[in-house]
Amino acid sequence: FAFTPANQKWAEAQMTKYPEGRQASAIIPLLWRAQEQEGWLSRPAIEHVSEMLGMAYIRGLEVATFYFMFQLQPVGSVAHIQVCGTTSCMICGAEDLMAVCKERIAPNAHELSADGKFSWEEVECLGSCANAPMAQIGKDYYEDLTAESFGKILDELAAGRVPLPGPQNGRYTSEPK
Ligand code: FES
Repeated sequence: FAFTPANQKWAEAQMTKYPEGRQASAIIPLLWRAQEQEGWLSRPAIEHVSEMLGMAYIRGLEVATFYFMFQLQPVGSVAHIQVCGTTSCMICGAEDLMAVCKERIAPNAHELSADGKFSWEEVECLGSCANAPMAQIGKDYYEDLTAESFGKILDELAAGRVPLPGPQNGRYTSEPK
């Protein structure tokens, strides 16, 4: 693994934001940039970032495995779907959403769909409990989901379109931008 020249320059600039000897503090933004570049975080990517920051690989791995925003296996080329499975979402139908994932993407979390376009996982609370159940797709939240509306979102993504994020039941507090 190596950062592209532009990402390398960006990473080095991040490192200068911290006091001398505290460059390890830049671990999360650098891991995030590596993931954005590759789509997921491979061992060589974590090794590279850790080495840049003067950290042992195991310490970089500790950070990468702590946050579920980091993907340690290849993800779908179109979308990696994170379904919240914590209390509010579970009570309001998260299992229905995961059943859709199991049927339409892959039986097990972190497996790629047959065409390689999708992957999914269950995650902990994403802080959108009032609009449960919900899922994060890319950087967007899709909320107030049902199995039906969730399935339509997958249809849209498969067709190459980006569905409008936010509540999917028409419950907007303001007009969507
Ligand atoms: Fe799902 Fe909080 S419980 S967003």
